[in-house]
Order: sequence, then C-alpha cells, then structure tokens
Amino acid sequence: MKRVLSGVQPSGRVHLGNYLGAIRQHIEMQKDFECFLFIADLHALTTIKSAEQMRTLTHELAVTYLALGLDPKKTVFFRHSDLSELTELCWIFDCITTMPFLERAHAWKDALAKKKKEITIGLFNYPVLMAADILIYQPDLIPVGQDQKQHVEIARDIGQNFNKIFGEVFKIPAPYIKKEVAVVPGTDGQKMSKSYGNTIDIFADEATLKKQVMGIVTDSTPLEKPKDTKTCNVFKLYELLATEKEIKSLAAKYKKGGFGYGDAKKLLLAKILSHFGPARSHFAELLPQKDYIRQILKDGATRAKIVAGATLAQAKEKVGY
Ligand code: TRP
Repeated sequence: MKRVLSGVQPSGRVHLGNYLGAIRQHIEMQKDFECFLFIADLHALTTIKSAEQMRTLTHELAVTYLALGLDPKKTVFFRHSDLSELTELCWIFDCITTMPFLERAHAWKDALAKKKKEITIGLFNYPVLMAADILIYQPDLIPVGQDQKQHVEIARDIGQNFNKIFGEVFKIPAPYIKKEVAVVPGTDGQKMSKSYGNTIDIFADEATLKKQVMGIVTDSTPLEKPKDTKTCNVFKLYELLATEKEIKSLAAKYKKGGFGYGDAKKLLLAKILSHFGPARSHFAELLPQKDYIRQILKDGATRAKIVAGATLAQAKEKVGY
C-alpha cells in the first residue's frame, strides 16, 4: 500500500474552503493509503509566539479532523513537536543545503518583499524542516495545494542530494496535486480565505453561520426575474455540497424566476447544517476532552517515531555518527 503524508499548520478555526480544498481529501485517503498526517506545530512557531495560542489552535485542529471523520486507528495522526528526530534530521540537511538554493523559495521571496518584521532564520529554514518532516517517513505521495508544490520539490532535491553525497537512504516522494480541487468562493466572491474575511466557518455557532451565509454577495437581479447560476456565489457554494438532483432542482428555480437570493441562501444554510450536522455535534463533544485528544496525538507520535527513528538511524550511520 502506498504511503501518503501531509501536514497542516494550526492557524485557527477551519472554514468551508479549508475543508473542500484539503481536509476532505486528507480524510478520504485513509481508505486507500497508509496515511501519516501531522499538525505542523514546529512550522507554526515561525508565526505563533504565544503558548496559549499554540495549545488552543493545536487542540482545535486535532478536534476538527477527528470530528470530520479522521480515524486515528487508520491514519497515524500526531504533532510535529513530539518528534525530536525531525530537528535532528533538519540539521543534517542544513549542512548539505546552500543559502542560494533556499533563497529561490517563493515563501522566502514573499516574506522579503513584504518585510513586515525582521525575518527569522526559522522562516528561511522552513523548507529544510519540511524536507526533513517529509523524507523521514519515507512516503510515496505528498498531497498538497499548488502553493506548497515548490516545498515538495525542494524536499525532493534535498533528499536526492543526501542520497548522492552519503548513500541511498531516502525515498523520493512525488507531489500529489488533485486537479479537481475546486476554488471555493468566499462570501464576497473572491477565493475563500481567512485573510479576506470572507469565510463560512463550518464549526461556528448557528447564529454566526447564518450571518455569514446571509451576507453572501449577490447581484441586483429582481426577485421575479430569472437568475444566472454561473455567476451566483450562493449557487456555486450549494453545488459543492448538494447532490446532483438538488443542484438541478435549484438551477430550475433560478431559471424560472420568482425565487430570490434570500431563498437560495436559506437553502444553502440548511444544506450546510445538514451536511456538517454530525461533525458539528462531534466537534462540540470532543472540544472539552483535552486529555483524550492529547492521548490520541501521543499514540500517533509513538507510531510515527518508529518510522522516523529508523530513517534517522540510517541517515546518521551514513553521515558517520
Ligand atoms: N508547509 C505546509 C503548509 O503551510 C505544512 C506542512 C509542513 C506540510 N510539513 C509538510 C505539508 C509536509 C505537506 C507535507 O501548509
């Protein structure tokens, strides 16, 4: 069975875009692959500088995945920071990676261009740590969005470089970019993103969720006129969750006219609530169970350590330690 690995940074409550763009795919893969999924809290330290926030966001992200159906018996689910093997391997990789090579990374270039604050060595070194956290598990495939493709390529280069200098240790994995991952429109029609403040938060309380859905921007076609499904954000979101039959039925209403955007939004809200109903109650149930969640992540770390420890031992042997 092919081994698949992915990491997610804890960065706040997840929205519909996160779910449809990545989380759903991570969870579905546990059916067909041997999956490793971790909370990238080592990477998160490049941005989060509060212990309280680090703990809360990590806990919430774990709860989110479990509520949405991740099975910790199938998927090895853990936190980065439980594996000191990663930072050990990262150092070895640091010593075979040049500065000009890392200076080509998009994320680094963006950070330089924005230059909000002093940039840390951690941020510069981010792709090397990512190479370590990928290669240490000897995976075959790395499911990532377009934005992370370059990081996977850097990991491949670093792995090949190590194998060439010291001898074969690392399997060179391939990025797995699912083409049909739809662009999920936000409430203002731009791509849904926390930074645009246009999200629909699947675990928000009902009142907030309602406000977000009712706030979706629509055009000014009057109620009695037919409406265009192709340009309507409400329709586009509905399409991502509804069945074929439901989509056809809503399209017919749009075409006929006499059906307002307010009605469409109500339908969408009901769809979101029914689609995520079980996950929402599971989320509420798990959220206070801090010890239970911690235990799941610890168990995952124990399993991950077996694989990571074996790879690290080989790498150290090749280096001469
Ligand atoms: N850099 C990724 C992100 O920001 C998170 C990540 C860390 C990751 N290590 C990874 C993703 C390994 C895939 C594989 O989203």
